Amino acid sequence: MSSPGSSERFLAKAPTVPADMSFLDLEDSVAPLEKPASRARVADAIRNLDWDDRVLCVRVNAWDTEWTYEDVIEVVSNAGPRLDELMLPKVQSAAEVVALDLLLTQVEKKCGLPVGHVGIEAQIETTRGLINVEEICAASPRLETIIFGPADFAASMEMPVLTGGVAIPEYPGDHFNYVFSKILMAGRANGLQVIDGPFLKVRELDSLRDFSQRTRVLGYDGKWALTPDQVGVLNEVYSPTQEQFDKAHAILDAYKKATEQDLAGAVMFGDEMIDEASRKMATKFVTRGERAGLTRSPAE
Ligand code: GLV
Ligand code: MG
Repeated sequence: MSSPGSSERFLAKAPTVPADMSFLDLEDSVAPLEKPASRARVADAIRNLDWDDRVLCVRVNAWDTEWTYEDVIEVVSNAGPRLDELMLPKVQSAAEVVALDLLLTQVEKKCGLPVGHVGIEAQIETTRGLINVEEICAASPRLETIIFGPADFAASMEMPVLTGGVAIPEYPGDHFNYVFSKILMAGRANGLQVIDGPFLKVRELDSLRDFSQRTRVLGYDGKWALTPDQVGVLNEVYSPTQEQFDKAHAILDAYKKATEQDLAGAVMFGDEMIDEASRKMATKFVTRGERAGLTRSPAE
């Protein structure tokens, strides 16, 4: 779920909402004049609140603003090790991901964090970003997740709509099917988690349930929530399959063996690298699956 970094109240509420991932926003939900003060607010919230084992992320501003580098330096230097990831919005090219990777490496060295500690989530929400999505998804080992941004994408396409991320009844079919599929394929081809963007009609929970089936059925891992009520609906829609539930157990077993017996922080699981963030994601799959009544399949 997203929470604006300019609001103490929303930041304080965020850890109480049962979302898999919380991201504290410095970008479009924060007014330009509030951006500098929000950096410290967000870093304080990360250090001082109890975020249980969810993935914790901050969305910085895009590289075409004057804010990005200070967002990264201030937040990563002051938030401490609990910060898992930065989200980079409006990614247009692989070079933008590489630039963030290089800056993160310097900041991590300077403040004593292990190099590679902070992962990257990239938002695809412009036409150029979509055209370059394959290179973007392969741009850095820090990349963990690719996220669609339907509102900015509709603006970038110059679509004649005033609300992004909802169904358009006049269109015979799913107007974003190509976009959803292209992003999903690029993400999956690079082993990334793939997340659908926000649904802006926040009071229409039934429409959200209906609309989110499109990306759930395609294979998306989840969808961004704007409110606690949306979190409830999306937790239901994106509950894991038996196969995902079994794989999550297998990841936890492999990670436990790696960290406790082999004393390694990151380890190969099949052809994937897994680490602490993978443990968090897998734990969520297990928790959600148990909540949905799944039990682990017997070993073959
Ligand atoms: C999200 O950032 C969007 O633009 O939809
Ligand atoms: Mg956006």
